[in-house]
Amino acid sequence: REIYVHGAAGRRSPVPVDVEELELAARDVMTPEAFAYIAGGAGRERTMEANLAGFDAWQIVPRMLRDVGTRSLQTEFLGQTLASPLLLSPIGVLEMAHPEADLAVGRAAAACDVPYIFSNQASEPMEAVAEAMGDARRYFQLYWSKSNELVESFVSRAEAAGCEAIFVTLDTTLLGWRTRDLGLAYLPFLRGKGIAQYTSDPVFERLMQQDTEGDAPRAPISVKALATLVESAMSYPGSTLSALGSGNALKAVRTFVDIYSRPTLTWDDLDFLRQCTDLPILLKGIQHPDDARRAVDAGVQGIMVSNHGGRQVDGAIGSIEALPAIAEAVGGQIDIAFDSGIRGGADMLKALALGADVVGVGRPYCYGLAIAGESGVRDVLGNLLADFELTMALSGVSEVSQISRDLLEV
Ligand code: FNR
Repeated sequence: REIYVHGAAGRRSPVPVDVEELELAARDVMTPEAFAYIAGGAGRERTMEANLAGFDAWQIVPRMLRDVGTRSLQTEFLGQTLASPLLLSPIGVLEMAHPEADLAVGRAAAACDVPYIFSNQASEPMEAVAEAMGDARRYFQLYWSKSNELVESFVSRAEAAGCEAIFVTLDTTLLGWRTRDLGLAYLPFLRGKGIAQYTSDPVFERLMQQDTEGDAPRAPISVKALATLVESAMSYPGSTLSALGSGNALKAVRTFVDIYSRPTLTWDDLDFLRQCTDLPILLKGIQHPDDARRAVDAGVQGIMVSNHGGRQVDGAIGSIEALPAIAEAVGGQIDIAFDSGIRGGADMLKALALGADVVGVGRPYCYGLAIAGESGVRDVLGNLLADFELTMALSGVSEVSQISRDLLEV
């Protein structure tokens, strides 16, 4: 209604309602590197395409005469009531989209009552984003570092910053083959403030000092290559690295590259995380029903069915294709979040009907951020929620808990 009323008054938002136009409008305001990093996927981007196309395999069959005069989007998740079944998936290096980055997203999330999952690769320290959000709901996404001490530090900072769950991302023990970034010879997360979550951490600081005391560089990347990266990173205005000074910046990046992920991670390591925190733990990146079963056995509180927006394994199963078998394997024992490919209300409804409890959205809110900062993110979230509410009501459903598989036809 708001959109029509504003339209009638001759006021249109700079944020296109149509998602394809949204992407194009964002491309117009971003550097080619920033757009490539956000819009791109792994390899030939077949999984990224499958994430979108997979929704077309299912059709909603609307039902009539079911009194949808009063509607509620309220949803139960992790034992709490959310205003709607929508989350903001974690996105790193958001300063590539807009200088206010995570702060603008945090404020928009709070305004729309949509929980925000802070990225471990954020452009702003989680404490600053938490402050910008007030009491609004947030979670923390963890990349499991080689240093358990750093893991512990991130988790305890997240607790102190009011995050109510830890989403451990399992699909990025190594960075995927990102064709567009490689084509531009561009490593975005070392640019600007992309390691702010690390450089604001006391444990990271100590590890950095230890690193300087040792002699040989441990990172699997030459010091010369790093020096070039650091130089370009430091020339970026407002960069965390530039604030560190060139010598320390080089060390910070070297330590970061060395410890940021742990490819040796196995199911046994989850015990360590369990001991670190009483917060709910969710495993992000689950794509196989057997892994979902193992997650249940491991005693975590939830999983996030996700393929990282098609950015990791090209040719991997589309996220929505993976969901039904996973939901069946889980059998309601733990909560299921879903992301990768959500672009509209119908996608949300289909994912919920196929077994998700909540859905996350990634790229679309980055585009809103790029175009109009905080208000752009608010527009994208508002549009998605309004579209979802209408789709739900017009399908004959007035509450999220009534959304079930029998609303869909293959
Ligand atoms: C991501 N994603 C991501 N995931 C994560 O766990 N930590 C992170 O730091 C990031 N960073 C990130 C950056 C960018 C630019 C993108 C596009 C994605 C993955 C993200 O959380 C989510 O899984 C996908 O974006 C969902 O897919 P859609 O909605 O973008 O299709």
